Amino acid sequence: MFGPPGTGKTLLAKAVATESGANFIAVRGPEILSKWVGESEKAIREIFSKARQHAPAVVFFDEIDAIAPTRGTDIGTRVTERIVSQLLTELDGVSELHDVVVIAATNRPDMVDPALLRPGRLEKMIYVPPPDIESRIEILKIHTRKVPLADDVDLLEIARKTEGYTGADIEALVREASLAALREDINNKHVSLRHFEIALRKVKPSITPQMIEYYKRWLETVKQRQEEVKRQAPTITF
Ligand SMILES: Nc1ncnc2c1ncn2[C@@H]1O[C@H](COP(=O)(O)OP(=O)(O)OP(=O)(O)O)[C@@H](O)[C@H]1O
Ligand SMILES: [Mg+2]
Repeated sequence: MFGPPGTGKTLLAKAVATESGANFIAVRGPEILSKWVGESEKAIREIFSKARQHAPAVVFFDEIDAIAPTRGTDIGTRVTERIVSQLLTELDGVSELHDVVVIAATNRPDMVDPALLRPGRLEKMIYVPPPDIESRIEILKIHTRKVPLADDVDLLEIARKTEGYTGADIEALVREASLAALREDINNKHVSLRHFEIALRKVKPSITPQMIEYYKRWLETVKQRQEEVKRQAPTITF
């Protein structure tokens, strides 16, 4: 999964965990580097061995860009190269196991080692875009579930005004509106339209149109690559 920060990639993986009923092993990319310094390859081996033991299982690598070889620092490069190569070995191993599924997420697809994205490895690339208007309405509903809204609050209207906001931005907007209500009067029982208007002035989209362009270009690259793979793949029938 790739997409701008705050669009719900981590959230989506957690939903997969609960919905699928499979065992879920989540690992954060930065953790692999910091927690197991010098033992990162072993950590990768153990993660996959645990997954095989507890199959059916889902292994989720969040912020996988963190284990991309960092250019410039020699030591950093060698460590990450070793981790990536261990990861490749394991991914090639599980591709035959149908009861172990590997998911990874990043907001920096350009930093992920292309070898990880080859067929049989992390082969399906899913774009998680900023929410469209329908999605924003749903996200607003979720984050206002426990918020006492005044009658003048129209979620559709707020959804219209939050073009370009991510799920995380919308969550921040609702929090800010609730705070605005309390700041106005600690005894306020409802969050009203005027509080959302204050919040809208304060909370702006955290991603820019340029960033969205970057992800769209990536989506095109991915599509092209997948087409190429399809053309090149020999059809083998047994
Ligand atoms: N689609 C959504 N529906 C409801 N809430 C959302 C959605 N997207 C984001 N959020 C809210 O924003 C928070 C942050 O989202 P999340 O951590 O999943 O983003 P992310 O895509 O993993 O970002 P990053 O690339 O920075 O890791 C979530 O915990 C949730 O409260
Ligand atoms: Mg995340």
